[in-house]
Order: sequence, then structure tokens, then C-alpha cells
Amino acid sequence: MSQTAPEATRYTCIDGDQLDTETAYRLVVGCVVPRPVAWITTVDEHGRVNAAPFSSYNYVATSPPMLAVNIALRASTGDVKDTARNILRSREFVVNVATVDNMDLMHRSAAEYGPEVSEAEVLGIPLLPSRHVQPPRIAVSPVQMECRLDQAITLGRGVNTLYIGEVVAFHLADTVFDGRRVDAEALRPIARLGGPRYAALGELFDRPMLQRPPGGEGWADDPKT
Ligand SMILES: Cc1cc2nc3c(=O)[nH]c(=O)nc-3n(C[C@H](O)[C@H](O)[C@H](O)COP(=O)(O)O)c2cc1C
Repeated sequence: MSQTAPEATRYTCIDGDQLDTETAYRLVVGCVVPRPVAWITTVDEHGRVNAAPFSSYNYVATSPPMLAVNIALRASTGDVKDTARNILRSREFVVNVATVDNMDLMHRSAAEYGPEVSEAEVLGIPLLPSRHVQPPRIAVSPVQMECRLDQAITLGRGVNTLYIGEVVAFHLADTVFDGRRVDAEALRPIARLGGPRYAALGELFDRPMLQRPPGGEGWADDPKT
């Protein structure tokens, strides 16, 4: 079935290469939606626990599992954010999945606290020890992924750096994991839209898998029948 755009649709076309950072940011966070939120814990050289959310984030590899997060320089000062500084120093971080249930605490941890302030302490974020890395896990997140930095890649004109981490341990709460799969409906992930707006999972749709995923699970053997 082919679809054509309605004749009446008019588009605004904006070239990307000369955009200032603020306009580019406004456009990408409006266009790339919804974005999952990585609530990242790190530790500084004094062992203080930092927690902050990042939605320029996704998985990027499966052999081994790897996640990537883009951390910008702080818009108000141009400084490197605490999370980025801690990852570069220790090469360790934990990605805790942000959910409807932990959204308010996660959101408050985005405030611009000085590097000497532990968001975990100030906000009373409950923590659990990790197995392989020093940064702790956030106990109010049902999925936590311990990561070791694989690469840090500074992008474009230098405002953004992509931190790629290998997941060295997954911690999956019984409430969301049946021993094989993470149940998205039980997890209740929160997504970030533009600005201060979040979204939960909405309507769910099922379709046959038309390409073979690793393991083949859910794949329609003959999708044409
Ligand atoms: C939901 C959410 C998502 C965010 N995503 C990003 C992001 O992807 N990259 C980024 O640099 N900052 C992002 N921020 C802003 C940081 O959380 C914020 O700058 C924070 O103060 C950084 O803390 P830190 O200095 O302790 O690392 C986000 C904020 C919120 C509330």
C-alpha cells in the first residue's frame, strides 16, 4: 500500500549545518521523540555519588552490550558536567532506568548542583552497591546497568561528547524480569519529550517480526503468508 502526502501539506525546510546550538537543540529534541531516560550514577575522586538524567541515550551494540549517552557542556557556564567529569576520571558509570514511579526524584536530580554536592545525599536517593564498578545503583529503579567506559568521542564543534559504555552487569528486579525478558508494561519507563514534558507508554501495538532478530524469537517464518 503506497501513501502520498496530502497536497495541502507545506513544509518548513531548515538547513542544519549553520544552526546555532540553541536552535539545533530545540529542533532535535522536538524531532527525536520520545527519548528514554538514563538516570546515571557516578562517583567523584572523594567517593561522592552524583546522579543526573540524560535522554540523548540509547543502546548501540549487543556483542558485547553497549550503551551510548551524549553529555553536552553545561549551557549556563560552558563547564564539563559532573557526570562527564566523573566518567572520564573513573571510566565507570551506572545507567538506572527512569520510570513513572521514580520520575519526580529523577527530575529533581537534574538541578545544577555544584560538584561538591552529592545529589544522592541531598535528595535522599536510595542506593545499592554495584558488583563490578564503584558507582552505586539507584534502588528505586527496577533496572540498573553497570557500565565501563569504552570510548568517549567528542562530536562536531566540541559541545557534545558521546560516552559509549560496555554493560558489565544487568540488575533486573523480579517485578519486571521473568528470567528471559524485561516486561515493558511492568517497567513503566518514562520518556522525555521536548522541554519539561515527559510521557509514559501509551497504546501498544503488535505486528509479526519481518526480520530475524538474534535468537529468532517472535519471527514470522514466512511473513508473506
Ligand atoms: C529528563 C532529562 C534529560 C536530560 N538529558 C540530557 C542529555 O541527554 N544530555 C545532557 O547533557 N544533559 C541532559 N539533561 C540535563 C542534565 O541532567 C543536567 O545538566 C544536570 O545538571 C547534569 O548534572 P551533573 O552536572 O551532575 O552531571 C537532561 C535533563 C533532564 C531533566
